[in-house]
This record gives sequence, structure tokens and C-alpha cells, in this order.
Amino acid sequence: MPYLLLFLFLLPGVLADDDINPDIYLDVPGLITKYGFPVETHIVQTEDGYLLTLHRIPHGRQGDTEDHNRVMARQPILMQHGLLSSSSSWIMGAPEKAPAYIMADAGYDIWLGNARGNTYSRNHTKLDPDGRDGKFWDFSWDEMGYFDVPAMIDYILNKTGHTTLFYIGHSMGTTMFFAGMSARPEYNSKVKAMFALGPVATVSHILSPIRLLAPLTREIEALFLLLGHNEFLPHNRLFTKWVEKICAAQRYTKLMCVNSIFLLTGFDQAQFNMTWLPVILANNPAGTSVRTVAHYAQEVESGKFQHYDFGSRENMRRYNQTKPPQYNLKNVVAPVGLLWGINDFLADPKDVAHLAGSLPNMVHDVCMPRPSFNHIDFIWGDDADKLVVRLLLKYLPFY
Ligand SMILES: *[C@@H]1O[C@H](CO)[C@@H](O)[C@H](O)[C@H]1NC(C)=O
Ligand SMILES: *[C@@H]1O[C@H](CO)[C@@H](O)[C@H](O)[C@H]1NC(C)=O
Ligand SMILES: *[C@@H]1O[C@H](CO)[C@@H](O)[C@H](O)[C@H]1NC(C)=O
Ligand SMILES: *[C@@H]1O[C@H](CO)[C@@H](O)[C@H](O)[C@H]1NC(C)=O
Repeated sequence: MPYLLLFLFLLPGVLADDDINPDIYLDVPGLITKYGFPVETHIVQTEDGYLLTLHRIPHGRQGDTEDHNRVMARQPILMQHGLLSSSSSWIMGAPEKAPAYIMADAGYDIWLGNARGNTYSRNHTKLDPDGRDGKFWDFSWDEMGYFDVPAMIDYILNKTGHTTLFYIGHSMGTTMFFAGMSARPEYNSKVKAMFALGPVATVSHILSPIRLLAPLTREIEALFLLLGHNEFLPHNRLFTKWVEKICAAQRYTKLMCVNSIFLLTGFDQAQFNMTWLPVILANNPAGTSVRTVAHYAQEVESGKFQHYDFGSRENMRRYNQTKPPQYNLKNVVAPVGLLWGINDFLADPKDVAHLAGSLPNMVHDVCMPRPSFNHIDFIWGDDADKLVVRLLLKYLPFY
């Protein structure tokens, strides 16, 4: 839905090419390499057969150390992106700005996750993402939490020889974590600490226009499925072409592009670096299932943090009860730090306060010290390095 608005802004006319930012043609490993960091690509298989890509930045620009003990001491961090995004979320900036780069340079072993169904995790051992049956897209963040989070954690711990890791999530990356740790509490002991940027569990107070569509979820979902689209806003080349022509071209069209993002996430013009806008738009939206988006819309209506609602008959078959089961946040016993913004249209402070009251082991509850701080400022704001990443680097050594 959000990005449909974006399309409307992008449609009119074709403008003269100014300087096109060459970064829009690079994928995540390409970008990481260009900015001077080592990169590895790992494929992780989930218990239900999805093949997820993890992008790893094993160390910073200063190079690897010869000292094997120090390599072992390098703490792994799993960074998990938000709705309709990808591992690209964490690298949209210069080495001194983007969260993944700063943390790699600070000595951490960075693993960038990709949720099932996005650009980098559009593969399965048996199911075909382009198959007519649409079975591949039969998931929401219930499955991302239950299967993807544990699979990525186990893979990283196995590869690094560590017994615990840090988890940093943004937006849906936090929803997946809370759902996963609630459904499979045994995974809490593998998480040294979790930091939630723009935390999302319940979304009763969401301010984004997504709210207006919530009562129509069933109809919209039915329409999508009728048209044979189980996939929601996948990455595509045509979109990149539009971005190149319009968002990258002139000042006023750039403003239109960025305003369509702000409409969804909260307005904070001063924090947005326009140089990176075309690159961000070349990487987002990165696609997910229709059901993943519908699941959030259901939550706006229900006000509850619960499994996907299939309707009473199918609920009975899947859950053995007519209503979807709620997630028990008391199961999330790993230490959790919440970082939130007052101007966040998607992770509203009232919803965050509700989450804070439900978590049994909340170790930090930090309001970003800028009233205009919005949902995307956590990863793309000009001050993300000073406000968010610096704070994370301060907290991590205590766990
Ligand atoms: C915006 O990004 C460009 C490219 O990384 C950088 O040169 C510039 O300093 C940034 N602007 C601000 C205000 O941070
Ligand atoms: C999907 O995974 C299989 C291995 O199971 C691999 O052979 C194939 O190349 C992958 N497809 C894509 C598009 O990555
Ligand atoms: C780690 O992965 C290897 C294969 O890469 C596997 O044989 C081994 O059982 C795994 N160990 C654990 C603890 O998962
Ligand atoms: C389903 O629920 C009923 C009653 O709530 C219970 O007796 C039964 O064992 C449950 N079945 C399964 C498969 O969980």
C-alpha cells in the first residue's frame, strides 16, 4: 500500500538526467565492497525449506587480526530489517554513517538478515516463488519469527563458535523477534541482548495512513489473491528506472519522493540525506507476502499481538481454536532495550509503552532526544550515528 502512493508520485513524465548516483546499480555485496568492507554471502535453510540470504561483514576496514583469540572474541550481531526492506537497510550511508559499517569498524562481526520472500530470500528447496499455486507466499511474520529468526541464529552461532549473539531489529525485525522468542522460548538463551529500533508488537495507535486501509484488509487481500498476486511489492528493474529518472533528477521531484516516504513513517525532512534517496529507493520496496502486510492491518483492528487470523474455520484447523492465539510477551526473557521516537507514525509511543509494560526483562527504554525523530531516522537519519549507533556501542559491552 505505502509504495503505491509512491508510484503515483513517480508516474508523471520523464525528466532530464542529472548526475545519476551509480550506487543505484549495486546490490548489497556490491555496495559493501565499494565502501571498503569485506563481505560474505551465506545461505541458510529454515526447517520449512526457505532459503534465506545472510550478508556478513566479518570485520571492519582496519582488516582482520592475526590473533585467532581476538577473532573468536569478535561478538556476532544479527541485524534484522523492517517491513518491505532487506539487508540494504543497514548500509544506506557512508562508512562513518551507516549502522552496519560503524559497528563492523567497532570490532563486531555483522550479520545482516533477510526475511523470507524479500529480494535476497526469494527461494525455497521445493516451492517456487513464481509458482501458480502461490504456496511459497503462504506466510506472514508468524513464520518469520518461528522459522527465520531461529534458523539465522543457529547458523551464525554454528559458524562463529559463539554461544550467544546480539540481535538488533528495526520495525518488523523487532516483531519477528518478539513473535519468535514468544513461540520458542528456548531461543532466548542464545540472545545476549536484543535492541529494538522503532519497536512494533501491537499497533493500536499507528498514525500512518495504513490505518485507514485496515478495516478493508480482507477485501484488499482477497483482491490481491484473486489477481494471483501473493507477493507484495517485489523489487523490480522498472521501478529502479523510474527512480533513476524522477527521484534522482531535480530538487522538487526529489521532494515528492521523500514526502511519500514521510507520509508513511513520520515527517522529518531535516534528517534525510537526499544524496542517498535514489539508492534507498533502488533497494526498497524489497517485497514480502501479501499476508505479512495484512497481518499488521489485522493488528490495527484487533489491538492485539497475535497470530494471523484466518477466520474461525481455518483458525480451528491450524490453531485448534476459533480465535488466533496471542503471543505471550512474558516468554521473551532475553534482555531487551527499546529505542523509540516521539514522531514515529508506525511505532507509536503509546504502543511502545504497552510493549514496555509487557516485557519481563526490559533493560533500556530510551526515547530519542529529538521530537521529530521518526521510524526511518533509526537507520537512515543524519543523526542515526550520533543518537542510535553511539548508544548501542555504549550498551553492548555490558552484556
Ligand atoms: C549526505 O551523503 C553524502 C554521501 O555519503 C555525504 O557526502 C554528505 O556529507 C551527506 N550529507 C550530510 C548532511 O550528512
Ligand atoms: C535456489 O536454491 C537452489 C538450491 O536449492 C539453487 O540451486 C538456485 O540457484 C537458487 N535460486 C536462486 C534464484 O537463487
Ligand atoms: C554446524 O554445522 C555443521 C555443518 O556445517 C553441522 O554438521 C553441525 O552439526 C552443526 N553444529 C551445530 C551445533 O548445529
Ligand atoms: C484441541 O482442543 C481441545 C479442547 O480445547 C483439546 O481437548 C484437544 O486435545 C486439542 N487438540 C489438539 C490437537 O491440540
